[in-house]
Amino acid sequence: MGVRDSGRLADGVVLSGIAKSFGPTRVLEAIDLAIEGGEFLTLVGPSGCGKSTLLRIIAGLETADAGSVAIGGRSVDHLRPDERDVAMVFQSYALYPHMTVAGNMATPLEMRRLTLAERLPLIRHLSPRRPRVMRGIMAEVRAVAETLQIAHLLDRKPAQLSGGQRQRVALGRAMVRRPRVFLMDEPLSNLDAALRVHMRSELAELHARLGITFIYVTHDQVEAMTMSSRVALMDQGRILQLGTPADLYDRPATVAVARFIGSPPINLLEGEADGTGGVRIDGMRLPIAPGVAAGTRVTVGIRPEALHPAPARHDGPVLRARLKRAENLGAEWMLHATLAGAGDAPLVVRITAAEHDAAAAAGLLGEDLALAVSPAGTHLFGADGARIAVRRLAGAA
Ligand SMILES: Nc1ncnc2c1ncn2[C@@H]1O[C@H](COP(=O)(O)OP(=O)(O)OP(=O)(O)O)[C@@H](O)[C@H]1O
Ligand SMILES: [Mg+2]
Repeated sequence: MGVRDSGRLADGVVLSGIAKSFGPTRVLEAIDLAIEGGEFLTLVGPSGCGKSTLLRIIAGLETADAGSVAIGGRSVDHLRPDERDVAMVFQSYALYPHMTVAGNMATPLEMRRLTLAERLPLIRHLSPRRPRVMRGIMAEVRAVAETLQIAHLLDRKPAQLSGGQRQRVALGRAMVRRPRVFLMDEPLSNLDAALRVHMRSELAELHARLGITFIYVTHDQVEAMTMSSRVALMDQGRILQLGTPADLYDRPATVAVARFIGSPPINLLEGEADGTGGVRIDGMRLPIAPGVAAGTRVTVGIRPEALHPAPARHDGPVLRARLKRAENLGAEWMLHATLAGAGDAPLVVRITAAEHDAAAAAGLLGEDLALAVSPAGTHLFGADGARIAVRRLAGAA
């Protein structure tokens, strides 16, 4: 079943100049963000960067000092949380322990459709319309429960459910309200690793089925990358970069973005442009900076999968390193090395098991390791941390 009325377009959310301080602490700095209707937008960033505060401002649970929130093209600044037609799911799902799953899921609808008298014990049975309203509510609860595959659990209490089942009940309780926008604040962080991976795909599927706007908060970049149509990477109350997961991974706007996105994290090496298209790193030269002025301090970012064991006399950009440790992860290997120069900068190399075995057979995995650098996963940043756009990294052929 689709929660949206058929034919109605999903509502977008537009944030303009949202600023917030708690006492002297500036938590959000004039955030502008246009979230399209039907999008799965993830706010990701380190702990304390302001993600939850921004989400709570959208929900109306927190008031901004400045700026405005619009949902479906209309300002909601003057609306109470329950009038905004948004549903919020938190990390702690706070189900009512004494109620069944069905009771938990029906509560938001009972609050909306029954009068106070119709909800009170004893008196409620005097209402002639209550049985009809309750039948309607239970039919909707059942339909949502079927969508979430928890229909067989409707008569259980929360204590009789697994973590993932409880999480789905919390989602169901939010879904029955047919929100225009779904807000989620780290809803999976209480689940164990395996269940988290499973629920990631369930949430992505749920989003596709409902077709409504999801705004999702996490500090886990893998979660952000796997589920979202777009990701807003936040740090210290600002959005550092907004884009698709591929944008952030393949074209990080700053060193900070490059460092945050990617697991294991990107290798960062300090160097200096030599003015002839090369970067000098610890006595080595990588021909990766065409058009960058001599003497420019740069940071070279190389994704772990952009490094490959190569013969010492490889034709193309190469870094010389010392292999410290090789980790077998089954389908792939992580090679932990340090740059051969005096600086001893750490390097992580990620290769498939097949590539590892071939390199080992060819005798390429000795203590002295030559690493071919693939330009596709290599990024250049200036001293200010901003990406240096080089038209085409040398050696890309
Ligand atoms: N009610 C409050 N009073 C004072 N400071 C607050 C309040 N709520 C949040 N803060 C502060 O505002 C900053 C942002 O908090 P917020 O909860 O938005 O961060 P977050 O990005 O969600 O972090 P996390 O990933 O740890 O959940 C933090 O420094 C926090 O201590
Ligand atoms: Mg938070």
